[in-house]
Amino acid sequence: MSKKTEKQTDLGLRQFIKDLGYLSGGAALLATTPWLQSFTPEKAKEIQSEKARIALIGTGSRGQYHIHNLLPMKHAEIVALCDIYAPNLKEAARLCPKAKKYTDYRKMLESPDIDGVVIATPLNWHAPMVIDALSAGKHVFCEKSMALTMDQCKAIYDASRKTDKVLYFCMQRLFDEKYIKGMQMIHSGLIGDVVGLRCHWFRNHDWRRPVPSAALERQINWRLYRQSSAGLMTELASHQLEVCNWAMHRIPRSVVGLGDIVHWKDGREVYDSVSLTYRYGNGVKITYESLISNKYNGMEDQVLGSKGTMNLATGMYFLEGEDASANSGIEQLLSQIGNKVFAAVPAAGSSWRPETQKAYKPHYIVEGKYHINDGLSMIGAVKDGSDEILSAFCQACITGEKGKDIVEEAYCATMLCLLGNQAMEEQRKIDFPDEYKIPYMKFE
Ligand SMILES: NC(=O)c1ccc[n+]([C@@H]2O[C@H](COP(=O)([O-])OP(=O)(O)OC[C@H]3O[C@@H](n4cnc5c(N)ncnc54)[C@H](O)[C@@H]3O)[C@@H](O)[C@H]2O)c1
Repeated sequence: MSKKTEKQTDLGLRQFIKDLGYLSGGAALLATTPWLQSFTPEKAKEIQSEKARIALIGTGSRGQYHIHNLLPMKHAEIVALCDIYAPNLKEAARLCPKAKKYTDYRKMLESPDIDGVVIATPLNWHAPMVIDALSAGKHVFCEKSMALTMDQCKAIYDASRKTDKVLYFCMQRLFDEKYIKGMQMIHSGLIGDVVGLRCHWFRNHDWRRPVPSAALERQINWRLYRQSSAGLMTELASHQLEVCNWAMHRIPRSVVGLGDIVHWKDGREVYDSVSLTYRYGNGVKITYESLISNKYNGMEDQVLGSKGTMNLATGMYFLEGEDASANSGIEQLLSQIGNKVFAAVPAAGSSWRPETQKAYKPHYIVEGKYHINDGLSMIGAVKDGSDEILSAFCQACITGEKGKDIVEEAYCATMLCLLGNQAMEEQRKIDFPDEYKIPYMKFE
């Protein structure tokens, strides 16, 4: 795909956001998703003749996924690529032959011909690369999670407060239609009071990649070693804990948990099985579980309310007691849609519970769209918001407009992952440490 076929790939989400904003009066949408305020169809028109000059650091699987999303984007061009692993750099260069190639990211950052840097490297590299890129005067889009340690996260947060540059972290659920609309429904009271959160990510895959020589084991299989990875928590749970905080508009005060290497006893250092409970100040808890040796339950983000359940990952919700009688016209309509969904989706996703078959009919969060995620991809799911958040970043490289609350959301989620790991390692309850609190955090 060397020839660039340009198109506006994100208009669907932009229009969706505009419609959602108009329907709800705008203010409600902004309160729920402040980072979307500039992501409108009008803004796309304003910037379409300009191009953000983008450089990539890390051209492995996620980096190449971003390249595929960037190539057709009207308002972006890939001008530079950097990687220390020749086969990945070569493959990326094949996709964008005009881009300049580098093996030293610091050298690349000296170039005045770069507006924004996309970082898709192992977790241990995020902090030095983000901070160096901001210092070099570049806008930065970094993959989640924020960083490997709490001190690094704090250093990034502090740097973000001092810079006038844009900083995004790829928490793509923030730009996913299902999540955006589902959150609006939660915040408008559709499922009543949020009384619990239940998230899990199950897959059956060893996370290993083949290595051409033993000397490259730690470099290529960086996810398995503590010097470069915080394991399931930062690789998977970070997305889901962010969703919980988004739903709750606050962050948990404490966490307990257990972590083990149960199945993949192959020399790895990170857990392949984790179970944790996070507790918010009002007593609501997140039950979080992840296993990578059984995929039966797939991946789900469930927000449990006193009147219903929002299953954000699958794009469905369920109302309690609706069988008794539909209360309003809109509920009757939703109920009819739900019946159709139920007929069209034989298993109704991994959230299906046979014993509650009669009581819970699924409804779409976004009409006509549902998603059963098997949680298997290590690169990314289709239409999960990844291309849109990247597009918003490229737009911001042109306008200079910061993404409101994105750094804060990434900071809170990553800190919870790292505190979870600490709780599992030390086998004790960990309270959120004062030294890492930031004004954005609400605990009560
Ligand atoms: N948002 C998501 O859903 C999502 C999905 C997958 C991966 N990720 C994240 O993307 C990042 C990369 O993951 P991946 O699966 O692509 O890993 P990967 O191993 O496939 O790619 C990482 C690349 O970074 C390169 N690299 C390592 N050190 C470097 C350095 N000092 N300078 C330049 N290049 C360097 C490696 O050689 C490799 O090509 C991770 O942070 C991961 O958590 C996010």
